[in-house]
Amino acid sequence: MNEVIEQMLAHRSIRRFTDDPVHDADIASAVEAGQMASTSENIQSYCMIRIRDEARLERLVELTGGQTKVARCGAFFVVCGDTRRHRLLIERGDRSYDARFEALLLSIVDASLFAQNAVLAFESMGYGACYIGGLRNDLPRVQELLGFPEGVFPFFGLCIGRPDQSPTTRPRLPMDSVLFEESWPEERGMLESLDAYDRTMVDYYRTRVGNPVGTGPAPQGWADRMIEKFTTPTRPAVAPYFRKQGASLD
Ligand SMILES: Cc1cc2nc3c(=O)[nH]c(=O)nc-3n(C[C@H](O)[C@H](O)[C@H](O)COP(=O)(O)O)c2cc1C
Repeated sequence: MNEVIEQMLAHRSIRRFTDDPVHDADIASAVEAGQMASTSENIQSYCMIRIRDEARLERLVELTGGQTKVARCGAFFVVCGDTRRHRLLIERGDRSYDARFEALLLSIVDASLFAQNAVLAFESMGYGACYIGGLRNDLPRVQELLGFPEGVFPFFGLCIGRPDQSPTTRPRLPMDSVLFEESWPEERGMLESLDAYDRTMVDYYRTRVGNPVGTGPAPQGWADRMIEKFTTPTRPAVAPYFRKQGASLD
């Protein structure tokens, strides 16, 4: 164990922030740290856009499903895949951009590695963070609001600020559910491991919502949440929007 790992193990999403500002110098440090994340073939296909305008932030609260923290955090950012800069170089050289699904995938990987490195840096400076996937609830409206050019793909928002709450960390899957030897493991063992996690999560939700045993409906566990999530099409408008923005999904 060392300080870096200790900090990583203490991560929890923060959803309520104080009014303290996020200093520009701290943003610069976090972005610099984010940029030093590995990036496929050094293509660096991401960007992060800070939104300060209050009317825009309020609109983003609506578009993210009423997530008020978007407008009530020290700094709100939109993290995007960015293939625009590659396109500019190609078009200046009178050639045509012709990248496939791999280019979108690279930008998803790159943007995520960048963002997570930046989040760790912010957390190391005492800030809290919450990713906002709700940004993808209605991307055409986000597009109307922020006017991204072709080749820029908004993936998620990011709230940063001084924490005004101290939630407990959220348990993760047992290690034997995620770390394997040689190949994917035998399925019965996997299901047992998932069931053990489910019990942990039922307890976690019970404690978190202050619903001690016998005083209300049993909280939904992790398995039921996943079953519900992945048997209902989620955000079906995302792929058509990315296609419209110039992504190839082939
Ligand atoms: C890409 C991404 C999108 C997320 N979107 C949201 C969101 O829209 N709203 C929210 O409150 N939390 C969001 N989260 C936070 C997750 O719910 C959270 O990370 C997860 O439940 C684990 O909890 P922890 O971060 O406290 O450990 C998102 C996390 C990620 C990585």
